[in-house]
Amino acid sequence: MTSDPIRLGVVGLGRAFMLMLPTFRADPRVALVAAAAPRAASRKAFEKEFGGYTYETIEDLCADTSVEAIYVATPHQMHRDHVVAAARAGKHILVDKPLAISLDDGTAMVKACRDAGVHLIVGPSHSFDGPVVQAKCLIDEGAIGAVHMINTWNFTDFLYRPRRLEELDTKQGGGVVFSQGAHQIDIVRLLAGGRGRNVTAMTGQWDPRRPTEGAYAALMSFESGAFAAFTYSGYAHFDSDEWMEWIGELGHLKDPAQYGGARRALATIASAREEAALKTARTFGAGAEPSMPDHHEHFGPIIVSGDRGDLRLTPQGVHVYGDEARTFHPAAPVDVPRSEVAKALFDAVRCGRSPAQTGAWGLASLEVCHAILQSAETGLPVNLRHQVSVTGEEGPDDRS
Ligand SMILES: NC(=O)c1ccc[n+]([C@@H]2O[C@H](COP(=O)([O-])OP(=O)(O)OC[C@H]3O[C@@H](n4cnc5c(N)ncnc54)[C@H](O)[C@@H]3O)[C@@H](O)[C@H]2O)c1
Repeated sequence: MTSDPIRLGVVGLGRAFMLMLPTFRADPRVALVAAAAPRAASRKAFEKEFGGYTYETIEDLCADTSVEAIYVATPHQMHRDHVVAAARAGKHILVDKPLAISLDDGTAMVKACRDAGVHLIVGPSHSFDGPVVQAKCLIDEGAIGAVHMINTWNFTDFLYRPRRLEELDTKQGGGVVFSQGAHQIDIVRLLAGGRGRNVTAMTGQWDPRRPTEGAYAALMSFESGAFAAFTYSGYAHFDSDEWMEWIGELGHLKDPAQYGGARRALATIASAREEAALKTARTFGAGAEPSMPDHHEHFGPIIVSGDRGDLRLTPQGVHVYGDEARTFHPAAPVDVPRSEVAKALFDAVRCGRSPAQTGAWGLASLEVCHAILQSAETGLPVNLRHQVSVTGEEGPDDRS
């Protein structure tokens, strides 16, 4: 166990922070020492539990010399300003996905961190999940030979959870492509080697009361010759957790009898203001906190096909279907949820070992989100230009 945890400040004590609470509470590699949040109730709750200092602004948090790294957990549209401010103050950064909304913002963030010589990690995305890391190790060990094809599906109620207005406006980063695509793309890129070549996609906007993308299907090719098919629907009908033994995204057992719960809850809300208030009610210092999960987190069924076999990822581990035998590789029990994220931050800051999910990596995944939207609009494939490999090598366009 470490005696020198990363002294972490947090900006934004909302839903994303709530989901990281079990990690911050239990992982010895990180110690929360300060926070910035506009809501007094959240600041008070933070001080009560973690001690340290709280501030109303990111600028004050950045000026706190006890903070060596900042977790940026504010809405997408604030990521650029908050990351650039933290980098200029010499803080290392963990920024929640997606890196940003526009590629220009993402590029500026990566540059600011490079110029300041600080680490920028984009996460947590589900590419940090234990079974995904396990699948990557199995691939690297040659368990299925070269990766040729990845298929991934996720059917959720994403669009019907309580949302702020901008989360239902694509131009402001709303919809499933930015918020959910970022997870799926990160996982697939990690397993396929990182550098994509092009994307063809279609998207669905099927509910005028939620006027943003609620679904997409995309096909992506990789420099390695591999290809991947992504399907996502957030329209709250079929739930692909049914295919995951009713283990939910966060690793908890789900009750199928609760079918339609998100829609029913939303139907009781009279206005956008009321809906935003309901979202706030799920933030730190205001709402119920997530309990300890029984299983690893996941992002729906994923099957990786190589020339000597297939891998199937589950919240309990990874199945390998080889030429002659089928084996199951159980994942280590979940001790601290999302401990892989704490490890990535610690390894980067204390040992100088960057994870795959750097700023440049996040920019490459963001480029795929934009390619999905662009291809859906034009009906044409979109070539990718900002791709990086798992070990950080840039593609031909970025090198020029
Ligand atoms: N990785 C995950 O599992 C996961 C889950 C949810 C959200 N997210 C990501 O986290 C980010 C935040 O989303 P969310 O759902 O938590 O939103 P949220 O609205 O629940 O939380 C955002 C918080 O930021 C605070 N905030 C707003 N302006 C601020 C400012 N200037 N300074 C400090 N704090 C400020 C708000 O008060 C709010 O508490 C998004 O980018 C989202 O994609 C990630």
